[in-house]
Amino acid sequence: MRVGKTRLLLKQGDITRETVDVIVNAANSGLRGGGGVDGAIHRVGGPRIMAECDAIRARQGGCPPGQAVITTGGQLPAQHVVHTVGPIWRGGARGEPDLLRNAYLNSLRLAAEHGAKTIAFPSISTGVYGYPIELAAPIALGAARDFALADSSFEEIRFILFSLGDLGIYQRALADRKSVV
Ligand code: APR
Repeated sequence: MRVGKTRLLLKQGDITRETVDVIVNAANSGLRGGGGVDGAIHRVGGPRIMAECDAIRARQGGCPPGQAVITTGGQLPAQHVVHTVGPIWRGGARGEPDLLRNAYLNSLRLAAEHGAKTIAFPSISTGVYGYPIELAAPIALGAARDFALADSSFEEIRFILFSLGDLGIYQRALADRKSVV
């Protein structure tokens, strides 16, 4: 799907293998690494990424939910990693939708400030943090669409879904334009 000059692409895969300017990490506020996509990015990217996370933590005390920070991509094919922190799902009435949308928008802004033309996202918050993926997908896609409407920095915004089931959920959310809020 095309929004202005930006192509929105959905694919199944492992985000650590994506050849893009920036990949986005679903991090925690302490920027201390973890399991899921965070663990995979540090494993493949090597120790320089954590060294830069340590420096950011020392400087500004981490990264609150909805915000984003940027490091090297280390040994990843991507030049940079944007680390964003999605909300932990607590039933949906604790500001989770806005925090999730901000996580996407602030990641896009930060990557664009660093000259990125291509970016790949995982499905933020829908693993360990428990955000229902049927509710998260339209927010993710809506944030990308709204950014692309307002700012033509990106040639491509990719969503890399780890399973075919998750890919199907994102595909249905994209097809059902009304659910893209
Ligand atoms: N590529 C793409 N997607 C992946 C990969 C990968 N290599 N590995 C896992 N995923 C998917 C998961 O299947 C899930 O759909 O990323 C999505 C997000 O799941 P999590 O990685 O658990 O992220 P999140 O729910 O945001 O939880 C963040 O988990 O690992 C910790 O440090 C992290 O504390 C933070 C929390």
